Amino acid sequence: MTDLTTLEADVLAQVAAAGDLAALDAVRVSALGKTGSISGLLKTLGAMSPDERKERGAAINVLRDRVQSALNDKKAALEAAALDARLASETLDLTLPAPHRRRGSVHPTMQTMDEMIAIFAEMGFAVAEGPDIEDDFHNFTALNFPEKHPAREMHDTFFFNPKESGERMLLRTHTSPVQVRTMVSQKPPIRIIAPGRTYRCDSDATHTPMFHQVEGLVIDKGIHMGHLKWTLETFIARFFETDAVTTQFRPHHFPFTEPSAEMDVQCDRSGGEIKIGQGTSWLEILGCGMVHPNVLRACGIDPDEYQGFAFGMGVDRLGMLKYGMPDLRDMFSSDGRWLDHYGFSAFAAPNAASGLS
Ligand code: DAH
Repeated sequence: MTDLTTLEADVLAQVAAAGDLAALDAVRVSALGKTGSISGLLKTLGAMSPDERKERGAAINVLRDRVQSALNDKKAALEAAALDARLASETLDLTLPAPHRRRGSVHPTMQTMDEMIAIFAEMGFAVAEGPDIEDDFHNFTALNFPEKHPAREMHDTFFFNPKESGERMLLRTHTSPVQVRTMVSQKPPIRIIAPGRTYRCDSDATHTPMFHQVEGLVIDKGIHMGHLKWTLETFIARFFETDAVTTQFRPHHFPFTEPSAEMDVQCDRSGGEIKIGQGTSWLEILGCGMVHPNVLRACGIDPDEYQGFAFGMGVDRLGMLKYGMPDLRDMFSSDGRWLDHYGFSAFAAPNAASGLS
């Protein structure tokens, strides 16, 4: 009969001698595996008398448990040693120069948009959004564009093929439809800006088929042109980072505002480059006005109770002016050299605390 004490000493010695996890597993299989030495002992129990089996069985079980626990301890020790060895070999020399990687940058349009959002957010405006693909109601009809009016053509609209119903969806020609969506879904007081992409079939040095606008809308009781003027002048001074800018409001026509105006800022064009806040020239910056009563009505707001002002401006254009880019088309030509030159660090998000640009 196999001597259990000798077998135990033998197996435990093998466990202690195992130098790695593979060797340890081989020991486990040779002792506790299906045909292992200890498993083999258990098979001999069947031929024994009950008393003998009881005594011998208990002793074999004790042996098996001891071996199993020795295997577990050794496994934990080998794993810890392997981890220590790995940690010791994987060192990182932090004094080495970082490898050169091409860094992405923030596109000037997005930088400009973020700056605008930061300024208006500080003034208490929320950001609203709407779809790029619009219907005629939101882009034109609710904004008081008369049916068949040339103003609809004025926007050089990209239309989709008509649906079966005859309705033609379109790429929004301005962000003004977000005004409509906001007024329909929210109760006044309303104070939102709507930044986003807009589309018109037009392309030259100052026009691209896709461009960006920021729309503004304020609806409350007793709103008047004075509120509009202060808001826009404050915005422009903050945006161009000057103490004060002189503005002028020229009467204009937009179907969705009455009265309507275009706002110009004083600038100097004498040096070949446009400088804001000085000089004797004027530069048109944006369109604005008091929300037309028909627009309020179309959105379920009573114009006798509520008034509002709205404005819309081109983000890319304002970015060009602020950062001195001569041609709007460069903005969207995906030229890496241009982006290297004009792009902004992704780590310097504009905000009121640390500055805009
Ligand atoms: N939607 C106008 C455009 O794209 C810009 C505009 C002008 C928006 C006056 C307004 C506004 O909200 O009041 O030409």
